[in-house]
Amino acid sequence: MTPTWIWYLNRATGIVALVLMTLTLVLGVVVQRQRRLPGLPRFGVVTLHRNVSLLSALLLVVHIVSAVIDSYVSISPLAVLLPFTSAWRPLPVGLGTLAVDLLVVIVVTSLLRGRIPVRLWRGIHWTSYALWPLAFVHGLTAGTDLGSGWALGIALACAGAAGVATALAWTGRDTNPADRAPAALAETTSALARGARVAVFRNR
Ligand code: HEM
Repeated sequence: MTPTWIWYLNRATGIVALVLMTLTLVLGVVVQRQRRLPGLPRFGVVTLHRNVSLLSALLLVVHIVSAVIDSYVSISPLAVLLPFTSAWRPLPVGLGTLAVDLLVVIVVTSLLRGRIPVRLWRGIHWTSYALWPLAFVHGLTAGTDLGSGWALGIALACAGAAGVATALAWTGRDTNPADRAPAALAETTSALARGARVAVFRNR
């Protein structure tokens, strides 16, 4: 029988990771639009963006590991990467798995950005827009807390922030939105890539 604190850890890291993923997206758009935050120089916004994404990746690792070791939910290590193969709630967990898979593909192609055709890289980057909603619906359907009370308030605030950030990324005035949106995602995901590398290193 797994101790209850593992379950609490899984829930807490899931919620905080979603909040930080949202914040990373918002900061990525601030960076992409070359805006500043009050009291911070532009490089400070970039650093904040990277550090928040690092924290989010670390929490996601804890979230997934705690889900696998929690014997109550029966999620195999394979189900972490292979969508819809979890014995426990295959559909909701599968959406989380899809989000992680997308994240891995986006991070890897961002790391190889200089070596693959720009159009291919950009095409893959469009799929980033599916990442946040997948994680969001996963949280709503798999989670204990997210569907009601204060946690639902947090979820709705995140949805609002992610929606506004995405709309801003696509509707700016300075350049063609088709060029700008992938640039914001590139900034966000390459920061996540750096974060994930450190997360993997620290979890060895
Ligand atoms: C392989 C990938 C994943 C697995 C196996 C997984 C597993 C789980 C499980 C078992 C729960 C239910 C916890 C409970 O009983 O309340 C859960 C909830 C949750 N997960 Fe994931 N998850 C994955 C990916 C993600 C991702 C990418 C995010 C994005 C940040 C995320 C965010 C959340 C949130 C916000 C909750 C709701 C917590 C609550 O309501 O208490 N998960 N996840």
